[in-house]
Amino acid sequence: MKAWLKEFALRADEFVFSPFQSYMKVCDILLIGIPGSGKGTQALKLVQKKSFFHLSTGDLFRYNLKEKSSLGLLAKSYIDKGQLVPDFLTQDMVRDFIKNIPQTKSIVWDGFPRNLSQSEAFDDILKKNNRSLTKVFYLKLSETEVIERLSGRLYAPKSGLTYHIKNKVPKKKGICDVSGETLISRSDDKKDVIKKRIAVFYEQTKALLNHYKQQNLLIEVEAFVKPDELFQKILNHFKSF
Ligand code: AP5
Repeated sequence: MKAWLKEFALRADEFVFSPFQSYMKVCDILLIGIPGSGKGTQALKLVQKKSFFHLSTGDLFRYNLKEKSSLGLLAKSYIDKGQLVPDFLTQDMVRDFIKNIPQTKSIVWDGFPRNLSQSEAFDDILKKNNRSLTKVFYLKLSETEVIERLSGRLYAPKSGLTYHIKNKVPKKKGICDVSGETLISRSDDKKDVIKKRIAVFYEQTKALLNHYKQQNLLIEVEAFVKPDELFQKILNHFKSF
């Protein structure tokens, strides 16, 4: 097993421990949304309030980059252009990573799958790990709001937490509340790259909506509301499964 996978999984698992987790029914949730629609923000709430394990392929690539692994450096060349990292690299990374997650733990999938080809690999990954998808949430948000959110986002590379210059201001300007590190802008949050990422969403990821609608798994939620309000909307649907 690759050392970085193990370390990242253990780190993440420590973070999500909750005394309630053993009473929860395992239910895997997938979040789909245009870049900046709030997938990471909602996933973190599911981790903190519902003991989910957060599996974000974007975070895994950024972790690899921080560790300067060959996968991270290769991924950066795609991420900085707003393109998807090739499917085989992404899928292999997920296949390796999921081995570290106990089958008793619910996963919130964030950013994977991102096209129809990845969704086939995803089905196979779920099956081989005795998992199934309970629901897919589509966080709906306009392009204008996305640009506002992403161009004002601040990011803490060590803790992985995100802030916003207006909507989620850190207690001390430019400093992460949890790790105390300096906040930066993500290299893919430049306006021209954001536009490319949005285009990729419409060209490749949006096809997943119909795919999951046909399987009766899709729930659409309006994401142009405050984070807590959006989280409540998501939680309301939990009562039905
Ligand atoms: P990834 O990291 O997954 O980026 P993304 O999908 O573009 O999404 P973001 O992380 O930018 O936004 P988000 O929806 O999580 O919003 P957030 O909660 O942070 O992927 C990055 C890249 O990696 C890809 O472009 C690709 O190159 C590669 N990659 C990843 N997965 C891949 C895959 N499967 N295949 C191939 N390549 C892959 O919020 C954004 C901002 O808004 C924050 O500042 C936040 O504070 C604020 N905010 C959040 N919610 C609200 C709200 N309700 N109201 C107001 N502000 C809000």
